Amino acid sequence: MNLFRKQNTNDILNENKAHKERTLGVFDLTLMSIGAVIGTGVMVLTGVVAATEAGPGVSLSFIISGIACIFIVLCYAEFSSTLPSSGGSYTYVYASMGEFLAYIVGLCIVLGYTLSVATVGAGWSAYFTNILSALGINLPTYLTTIPANGGIVNLPGILVILFIMFILSIGTKESKKFNNLMVLIKLGVIFLFIIVGVFYINTDNWNTFLPFGFTGVFSGASSVFFAYTGFDTTASAAEETKNPQKTIPIALILSLVISTIIYIIVALILTGMSSYSKLDTGDALAYALNSVGRTKIAAILSVGAVIGTMAVIFGQTYGSSRVLLSVGRDGLLPSKFAKTNSKNIPLVSIWSIGIVAAILAGFINLGSLANFSNMALLIAYFIVSISVIVFRKVRPDLKRGFRTPLVPLIPILAALSCGFLIFNLPYKIWIYFAIFIVFAAILYFTYSYKHSKIK
Ligand code: ALA
Repeated sequence: MNLFRKQNTNDILNENKAHKERTLGVFDLTLMSIGAVIGTGVMVLTGVVAATEAGPGVSLSFIISGIACIFIVLCYAEFSSTLPSSGGSYTYVYASMGEFLAYIVGLCIVLGYTLSVATVGAGWSAYFTNILSALGINLPTYLTTIPANGGIVNLPGILVILFIMFILSIGTKESKKFNNLMVLIKLGVIFLFIIVGVFYINTDNWNTFLPFGFTGVFSGASSVFFAYTGFDTTASAAEETKNPQKTIPIALILSLVISTIIYIIVALILTGMSSYSKLDTGDALAYALNSVGRTKIAAILSVGAVIGTMAVIFGQTYGSSRVLLSVGRDGLLPSKFAKTNSKNIPLVSIWSIGIVAAILAGFINLGSLANFSNMALLIAYFIVSISVIVFRKVRPDLKRGFRTPLVPLIPILAALSCGFLIFNLPYKIWIYFAIFIVFAAILYFTYSYKHSKIK
């Protein structure tokens, strides 16, 4: 038994070259990445983390998490410029560290994003029901609340996810336009918040900047990490991207830098507008605007948030369905996941992820979903960071469109950052993850190893 058998890099490159229909450029891909990144994290978690963990120091939490992500993205950028593939992280690890770890990374990415889509669906539902009740339409609480909180089901959360699955099933070209529109609306309302909010900063609110000390800032960094996840889904669009070796690294780095700057500014303005202790609410940005009397702007922001966060569901399902497709194509999961229709859309993968995410959004608590998602993705990012060092040793000859600077320092810093953020997650999440890994390993040894195409 050889757990370290590797995928042939020529096969990966030829597979990518075989795709003729390429519709995505730097602009589309950056928007797609921003679309998959900015969402529930900044709109919901900034307030909650300020109130319960970090105070106005949440801006420092965003800086710490942002720096960790920049290290990680610099590693991703090298891989995406060397091995453009719809498998993203999974394929990078397959070519460098071998099959078993690649399989684990593939499943972590699919699990992480399925949970993330569920989290965003649940968060979306909170904003949506708030808007409806402002319009005088009150949905029965039992249809908008999970069982653990006294309801039956979070129905809007389920419906929004299924709606986006439908849009994704139509095709890349068509859904790209829809996605770009959602992202522009989302960025528009965040800029609106910044431009209006900056005039209502009361620096007295920053007097107690670290009410929970640095411990709060660090645990806050692990929580707000959720706000940064999603960037790697961009790499999965390699087969539909024009000149992927240049386009993907540029889009990845650009989108992360833009997101980091936006998050820090939003966190500073939010905690300057209102006392941090009052921000433990699902729609903190709208709350802060209301508290300074800008109710119309608050209403516009809520509508924009509802439209914009749909782009997160879109981008993350797009990316993770392509990873699932790649794992199926390589035989490590049933080949059904690799089936595409005449428009090259992996319907089985999209709907598998969507249906599971919809069920989770309907019945499970948002905080646990987000933390479990962080855990799965951080493990995948950790392995990818180490793989950069290994791949430089294994294939020094391959042409790299972008090279991670200061190897091995940056990959080591990326891996250490992931370790630090994982360490700060609640221990029950560790247990869930351990159970997942045991099941994944059983499946590998009973099914995947035998069916692998490499064999
Ligand atoms: N980064 C994504 C968000 O904040 C998951 O919604």
